[in-house]
Amino acid sequence: MLKIDILSVLPELLEGPFAHSIIKRAQEKGLLQVNVHSLRKWAINKHGQIDDYQYGGGAGMVIVCETLANAIDELQAPAPYDEIIFMTPDGVRFNQSAANQLSMKGNILIICGHYKGIDERIRKQYVTQEISIGDYVLSGGELAAAVVVDAVGRLIPGVLNDETSALTDSFQDNLLAPPVYTRPSEFRGDKVPDILLQGDPKKVEAWRYEQSVQRTKARRPDLLDE
Ligand code: ADE
Repeated sequence: MLKIDILSVLPELLEGPFAHSIIKRAQEKGLLQVNVHSLRKWAINKHGQIDDYQYGGGAGMVIVCETLANAIDELQAPAPYDEIIFMTPDGVRFNQSAANQLSMKGNILIICGHYKGIDERIRKQYVTQEISIGDYVLSGGELAAAVVVDAVGRLIPGVLNDETSALTDSFQDNLLAPPVYTRPSEFRGDKVPDILLQGDPKKVEAWRYEQSVQRTKARRPDLLDE
């Protein structure tokens, strides 16, 4: 069972992503629990303030220490987090191996940044991992957090119906997945490869592996160096 708490300025953004399909089923099966918390709950005054101007000047507000510290302290009072993750474009690039590692944890917190970000002292004092989902800037960390929860949630043992299906995903062995086909066996003159129609499992496996290697060489040669 993996429990994921998410701290967000815009919890509404996270209402959809976990309410469907695999991640919904993971929660129904009791293998995953996702709780989204509004940072406003820990506002520093009755006006709901959670951010302030940055020292030194410059555009953009910064989420204040007190709000985040109080939120984290309260949320982890029952049990300390295994990881406190901050979603940020200057974090470590997320990948399948990071998703695998997180799927084995018990209790994690994800902080979604907004505006210019969060006070550096929270990153120093609380955050144990900083994750970026790619080299582009989103308006906030929510969509990035949704990506991480989805990638991690489906890897929790028992979540996928066919346990082996995560093993054949792209990236699991630093290889991209091979092409797949379904009926009809011919579409606009384009035929499904014979090997797949013949039904010899050994040959199919060898063909898929070869296709994976070819595809990885052509599209992501960097993966083969790893
Ligand atoms: N917040 C804004 N952009 C982001 C990114 N690329 N990855 C993670 N969090 C972000």
